[in-house]
Amino acid sequence: MKRITVATDKPFAKEAIDQIREIVEDAGHELHLLESYKQQSDLIEVAKISDALIIRSDKVDVDVINADDRLAIVVRAGAGYDNVDLKAATNRGVVVMNTPGQNSNAVAELAFGMMIFMGRNKFAPGTGSELRAKKLGIHAFGNVGKYVARIAKGFGMDVYAFDAFVPKEVIEKEGVRALNSVEELYSSCQYISLHIPANDHTVKSINAKLLSLMPKGATLVNTARKEVIHETELLEIMEQRKDFVYVSDIAPSQKDEFESKFAHRVFFTPKKMGAETAEANINAGVAAARQIVKFFATGDTTFKVN
Ligand code: 3PG
Repeated sequence: MKRITVATDKPFAKEAIDQIREIVEDAGHELHLLESYKQQSDLIEVAKISDALIIRSDKVDVDVINADDRLAIVVRAGAGYDNVDLKAATNRGVVVMNTPGQNSNAVAELAFGMMIFMGRNKFAPGTGSELRAKKLGIHAFGNVGKYVARIAKGFGMDVYAFDAFVPKEVIEKEGVRALNSVEELYSSCQYISLHIPANDHTVKSINAKLLSLMPKGATLVNTARKEVIHETELLEIMEQRKDFVYVSDIAPSQKDEFESKFAHRVFFTPKKMGAETAEANINAGVAAARQIVKFFATGDTTFKVN
């Protein structure tokens, strides 16, 4: 019998926990919960007494990984695993997995909620603008990017994408125009929706050089990670261009400066909420539980990222 802990600062919906419990207990394991914890030491303590962790954006650093020899697997119920120290995990032989695609629709829907909110003056009285016939550039065509493309077509947007790792045919099969470079994407599209991961190649890569290419009425939508933005250069661009709008599901480090200088042109959710739907919690949580049960039963490491 293994001890599997759901360790989430942002708790899953109750229905998700009920389904995770059923999967874990049916397989003969024990389920424990550590939710809305206040300090990192709580996560370290729970790692000491767990064989497996199911996490979200929780920080699984070297201290969590090395807490005890018992921990065998960490599954990030979601897409991005920049919150997990993969090197430390690999060194200790801990398997790390994610659950790709499971919460993507929720994130994609939020991107449109944000576009409409900003296009309609944050719902304050006054004339706004529509999404129909606007050019949308999808920066990275993974699972979220693909859902964004499908929804955008429903809005009648003109959809473009760039992804250095996805073949053009895959993008074009979705009825989206695949562009040749990131510069071409930014210079063609009034709306840019970011779906790149945060890693050594992408941190601060959304910089002034790229953003200055965007046409009039530029709106940058970030449901990815705050780290990919070069914040100082974005502040400069917004200073220079009164038409530039930035909306993000992850408040920037320089949030106060953005809000005080550009109150009407920025919006940040108080806490990352892209994947905060019951459906996404169920899909990602259940996938994580199944992956762990299968790993202990058969050694299966599908979705391993380290
Ligand atoms: C992800 O990478 O899956 C999303 O950013 C969602 O993150 P969350 O589980 O912390 O809400």
